[in-house]
Amino acid sequence: MALDFDPNDLIIPNNYGVSGQPHEIWNQLRREAPVYRCESDDFEPFYCITRHADIMAISSQPEIFSNIKGPMLLNHEQLRRQVDDPSSFGTMKTVIEMDPPEHRDFRRVASGFFTPRNIHRLDEIVEECARAQIDKLGEEGEADFIETIAQRHPLRVLATLLGIEPEDEDLILELTQQLFGSEDPDLQREGEDRGEASNQLIADFGALFTRVIENRRANPGDDLASLLANAKMADGSPMGPVETFGYYLIVFTAGHDTTRNAISGGMAALLEHPDQLAKLCADPTLARSAVEEIVRWATPVNYMKRYLLEDVELHGTTMKAGEHLVMFYASANRDDTVFENPFDFDITRHPNRHLGFGTGEHFCMGAHVARLSARALFLELANRIERMELAGAPTQIHSSFVVGLKTLPIRYKIRPAA
Ligand code: HEM
Repeated sequence: MALDFDPNDLIIPNNYGVSGQPHEIWNQLRREAPVYRCESDDFEPFYCITRHADIMAISSQPEIFSNIKGPMLLNHEQLRRQVDDPSSFGTMKTVIEMDPPEHRDFRRVASGFFTPRNIHRLDEIVEECARAQIDKLGEEGEADFIETIAQRHPLRVLATLLGIEPEDEDLILELTQQLFGSEDPDLQREGEDRGEASNQLIADFGALFTRVIENRRANPGDDLASLLANAKMADGSPMGPVETFGYYLIVFTAGHDTTRNAISGGMAALLEHPDQLAKLCADPTLARSAVEEIVRWATPVNYMKRYLLEDVELHGTTMKAGEHLVMFYASANRDDTVFENPFDFDITRHPNRHLGFGTGEHFCMGAHVARLSARALFLELANRIERMELAGAPTQIHSSFVVGLKTLPIRYKIRPAA
């Protein structure tokens, strides 16, 4: 079968920074090669899974498709570093790197905190936060929507959830951007030696977490940081230090960069589809379905990796035990066997069975939080935008894992809060 594309476009962060998500390639793969073995210049080889139905099936079989090798593909340099210094990432283990039954025990520690009922406590705080963010814009002017609004709002919500002081927000933001933007020259940790830069980043996270954990053990509150610092496992034993650090790492980082990219991708889509923006402003109650469409459209978590514990045959291709596969959620979210006119941005889309938050065993724990904060912001925007347009070309982050915009210049006129 003649497939005519550059495999580097599927995974190399730089290519995403220049051209964005490779939708044309995914369209071809869904049609002609739903299990495609990708060999790029930089990364370990992997099977590329692009159809919605296949991702649903794989995500429901953690006993075959394992998470123990982590969610991200590693490039050759990262693989070499892991061989030279296997302990460098060993100080933290996150729930996303676990399989059942261990995964279920650890997930239970925080899942109660993330139920819709518990998260609804935050409704008012999140609405106030959205209002304060939009107030910052003033009546009219120009701004980078990401720097001013999209990255600040979810960070404030997350800090509230964790019980973290606003003074620590800048540090959390900087470390998270260095983690997910490790391939982006504007975001990555400075340093010629990438291994050393990565070790220093982990050490800085470690120092922050040690300080917060010690504080929450001495002064526990009803926030998530206290819950995790004092967590007990099902047998009554305290959660171990490697796992506590890992939990901190995932909740401090997984929640705000992703939500930022959903919000900025959503704002860009609304500006590029003025009919949809007008519809939202005319009926702000559409914010709920708009957020689902925005997560489908932007798909900030581009993929998750799985490790094959046994040989599996799928669509005539045998995927070998010991190799990796990558489930491209962004491709599944444009699968025309599930979505009518998948390349239309439609804030009233219903049903909308997108996989932006994953599915099955590892379904996003923070989905309710992400929905709540994005909804509050788009509701506030819908009520207050008098005029908004692009003031320049947006730029993309150089990343193929957590993907999205780096800058989004806007020109606007905003009404005061009601
Ligand atoms: C729009 C924003 C977000 C998106 C697109 C997103 C997406 C995802 C995806 C795709 C997964 C993996 C699912 C799978 O493997 O099946 C995941 C896992 C996870 N997410 Fe999110 N997420 C978002 C926001 C959040 C927030 C706000 C939090 C927490 C405050 C959070 C915490 C987590 C955790 C803890 C996991 C690991 C769950 C597990 O392994 O069992 N996420 N997320």
